[in-house]
Amino acid sequence: MTILVTGAAGFIGSNFVLDWVNQSSEEVVSLDLLTYAGNLENLSSLEGNAKHHFIKGNISDRDLVSKLLKKYQLRAIVNFAAESHVDRSIHSPGDFIETNIVGTYNLLESVRSYWNGLDENHKKHFKFLHVSTDEVYGSLSKTDPAFRETNPFEPNSPYSASKAASDHLVRAWYHTYGLPVLTTNCSNNYGPYHFPEKLIPLCILNALNGKPLPIYGDGQQIRDWLYVKDHCSAIRRVLDKGKLGETYNVGGWNEKANLDVVKTLCAILDELKPKVDGTKYESQITYVKDRPGHDRRYAIDATKLEKELQWRPQETFDTGIRKTVEWYLANETWVSHVVSGDYKNWVQKQYT
Ligand code: NAD
Ligand code: DAU
Repeated sequence: MTILVTGAAGFIGSNFVLDWVNQSSEEVVSLDLLTYAGNLENLSSLEGNAKHHFIKGNISDRDLVSKLLKKYQLRAIVNFAAESHVDRSIHSPGDFIETNIVGTYNLLESVRSYWNGLDENHKKHFKFLHVSTDEVYGSLSKTDPAFRETNPFEPNSPYSASKAASDHLVRAWYHTYGLPVLTTNCSNNYGPYHFPEKLIPLCILNALNGKPLPIYGDGQQIRDWLYVKDHCSAIRRVLDKGKLGETYNVGGWNEKANLDVVKTLCAILDELKPKVDGTKYESQITYVKDRPGHDRRYAIDATKLEKELQWRPQETFDTGIRKTVEWYLANETWVSHVVSGDYKNWVQKQYT
């Protein structure tokens, strides 16, 4: 049997594919448009591996997706493909509408047509898993209970609004057409292959390069951090055992204020790669203009996933963040390629 992973050259998609190939006998077809966020180097360890097939393409390309579905007789799809960065969605919302909403719609339609043509046995076992975010639920105050699957959607950024729209489409394709779907809503991920436009990899690389560590506003916004490999294991569990039509929250019970996250990674860098001038990395922290519409707090209640599907994360924030810093220190070539070219334009646009 074979599965299709979309957005497979991005941060979470590539971690998912690498783990899948290591742990399963099933083949994987990776589909990715290779936007600025897609990086084939993330999958370079799979070159020549007969269990992995990479195809460059758009989830909106119905001809291509239909051909892939038939050619590989796919039994499941995990949809990671998306525009994923909140700050970029503020500058250019159109890309987010195009990929996250129209792209998901086109993908659902290609899949529906394939699924309708399957024989009863294959039809019964087919699954479409849509990977989404906790940001669809909006923002919490300090004392609000964590997000549950029953929380109403209250997205506040063009990114989260586009993801919420995609979740609604997936839900509607289940209720209206019976398409066998599952949705996961996960908190903030971190770990290997994270593109350095996001807080954690940006601050690790800026620290090492003697650049400012930009903290938006007062730095007291709270995120609930999950090591990427734990997100991948949760998706495998939901794909395997999840109830069709259901949504599952995924989180690490690791709420942290942004400032504390950055101070923690500075302390690890002080230990692993002390600065030659004897100063601390923390001295590079710089407060900058806040993100417009910045959500104050996210927190995930993953009790449903824990109780119904017996999933728990393996990493705490302390173990995961140390592994992450070590990975960036050990992968200088990957880093040097990623920060060349268009990356510089983004940093210029966002931080000056
Ligand atoms: P990413 O930006 O690193 O990767 C997205 C990938 O999708 C890239 O490889 C890109 O080339 C590809 N892509 C974009 N448009 C495409 C299209 N039209 N067709 C095919 N491929 C396309 O994102 P990520 O952080 O790996 O996130 C993956 C998914 O997980 C997203 O749906 C995101 O909303 C969700 N998510 C992310 C986080 C997080 O903390 N990063 C948390 C929860 C959920
Ligand atoms: O919650 C899940 C979401 O987490 C995913 O759906 C998104 O795809 C993913 O990008 C992430 O969104 P965030 O906006 O929370 O992540 P980001 O790393 O961009 O920012 C984390 C926090 O750090 C946020 O409060 C904004 C702040 N920040 C970010 C950057 C890039 C800064 O203070 N300075 C920065 O330079």
